[in-house]
Amino acid sequence: MDTILKATSLNKSFGPIHALFDANLSINRGEVVALIGDNGAGKSTLIKILSGVFSPDSGSLQINGTAVNLRRYSVRKARSLGVETVYQERSLGEKQPLWRNVFVGRHLRNPLGFIRVKKEKEMTLAMLRNSIGLKGVGISADALVGTLSGGERQGLAISRAMHFNAGLTILDEPTTALAVGEVGRVLNFVRSIAEKGNSALFISHNLHHVHEVADRFVFVNRGTIVHQCTRAEMSVAALFDKLEQLSMAPLTPDEQR
Ligand SMILES: Nc1ncnc2c1ncn2[C@@H]1O[C@H](COP(=O)(O)OP(=O)(O)O)[C@@H](O)[C@H]1O
Ligand SMILES: [Mg+2]
Repeated sequence: MDTILKATSLNKSFGPIHALFDANLSINRGEVVALIGDNGAGKSTLIKILSGVFSPDSGSLQINGTAVNLRRYSVRKARSLGVETVYQERSLGEKQPLWRNVFVGRHLRNPLGFIRVKKEKEMTLAMLRNSIGLKGVGISADALVGTLSGGERQGLAISRAMHFNAGLTILDEPTTALAVGEVGRVLNFVRSIAEKGNSALFISHNLHHVHEVADRFVFVNRGTIVHQCTRAEMSVAALFDKLEQLSMAPLTPDEQR
C-alpha cells in the first residue's frame, strides 16, 4: 500500500489534559480519510500536529516514507512536504489580498529575487475562476480575504492546495457554518482531490457529509483512535450508532481520576 503519511504513538498534553494518547494514523495515496468523534475527542489536536501547528510531546511522523524531525516541523515545513491545511478558524489572513494569501511562503520570484506580483495575480484569478466558480464578475486578485464568503474561502484554500498539488490536504470542519450550496461545492472539492490521486484528511460533525466523501472512517474518542473502517463496511446509520456508543461508554479508571 502506498502510504503518504504515517503517524505513530502521538501524545499531546495541555497541562493536565491528555488531549492525544498514543494515536496512530496512516493515510494512503488517493484516499479520503474522515476523523469522527465528539467535541473534545482530540481531532483538531491530531491534525494540528500533522499540519505543523502543534509539536507533540512524543511520537513520530513519516511523510512519503521519510521520517520528519518533529522538533523542526512547522506549517511552512509541512507545506514544503506537500501537506496543506484548510483551517477551521476563519481569522487567518482576513486583511490579506487574495493573491498574497495564495502564495504566502511560496512566492514566485524573478532572478533578482523580486516577487512576480503580476504573474501571481493572474494565477490567483485563474484559481478563483476554475476551482471556486465565483458567480460575481467583480472579483479581483486584490480583493481582501475577508470579503469572501466562508465557502469561497474554503474553496480558495482548497484550490491553493490543488494548485500546489498537495499530496495531503487536511480540512478541519470545512462545511461548518456554510450555506447549503457551498457545502456541496466543498464536498466536491474534497472528492476531486482523491480523483487526482492525492489524499485528504477531513473532519466534520456532519456524518452525512463524512459518509459522502470519505473512503475510510477513523473514530477518535477521548484522545485516542478507537475504531477504523471503510465506507463499504459502514452505513450512515451505523456511523451514528457507533458515535453514540462511544460517547456512552463508561470512563476507564484512569480517566476517572
Ligand atoms: N490550545 C489548547 N490549550 C489547552 N487545551 C486544549 C488546547 N487545544 C485543545 N485542548 C483540549 O484538548 C482536548 C481535545 O481538543 P480538540 O483536539 O480541539 O478536540 P476536537 O477537535 O475533537 O473537538 C480538549 O479537552 C480541549 O479542551
Ligand atoms: Mg475540533
